Amino acid sequence: MKDYRFDREYMECVSDILEHPVFNRLDEFTQHAGSSRRDHCIQVSYLAYTICKKRGLDYVSAARAGLLHDLFLYDWKDVYRRFGGLYHGFDHPKAALENAEKYFELNEKERNIILRHMFPLTLIPPRYAEGLVINYADERCCAAEVFSVMRAKMQDRYRRLAVKAQSARG
Ligand SMILES: [Fe+2]
Ligand SMILES: [Fe+2]
Repeated sequence: MKDYRFDREYMECVSDILEHPVFNRLDEFTQHAGSSRRDHCIQVSYLAYTICKKRGLDYVSAARAGLLHDLFLYDWKDVYRRFGGLYHGFDHPKAALENAEKYFELNEKERNIILRHMFPLTLIPPRYAEGLVINYADERCCAAEVFSVMRAKMQDRYRRLAVKAQSARG
């Protein structure tokens, strides 16, 4: 995927969100091991924007809702530990929507995309095709983030074993 910062049309759709201090607070929270929640939201937004643009869908709403879909300002691991993963899965779309409505102007489609982005866990599907694209982009980005962390861990382990074997040989 190309660097979103050099995509002028994408930046025109989302620059107010990218520059907003509340959105940038997402950098304080880890999403999946190695990546921040801010990075995760940008990846989801840009992937969904690209897909929607190719398919003739509403890429502006997809780009904006993608950035805001995980706009909850707490460490999800705390909630996970206290109430379990299911609770977090159900609760954080509502928290994200509450924050998104507080700081940004949303249309009905963007509201629905954010609220329903954990389908099928949350049972009620998104009302719009762009919502399904966000669900797909979210899952794909999560998988890529987890995989890159696992790969880095395996490479590190392999490196350590190689050093150990080298020193054992003398
Ligand atoms: Fe989420
Ligand atoms: Fe997400």
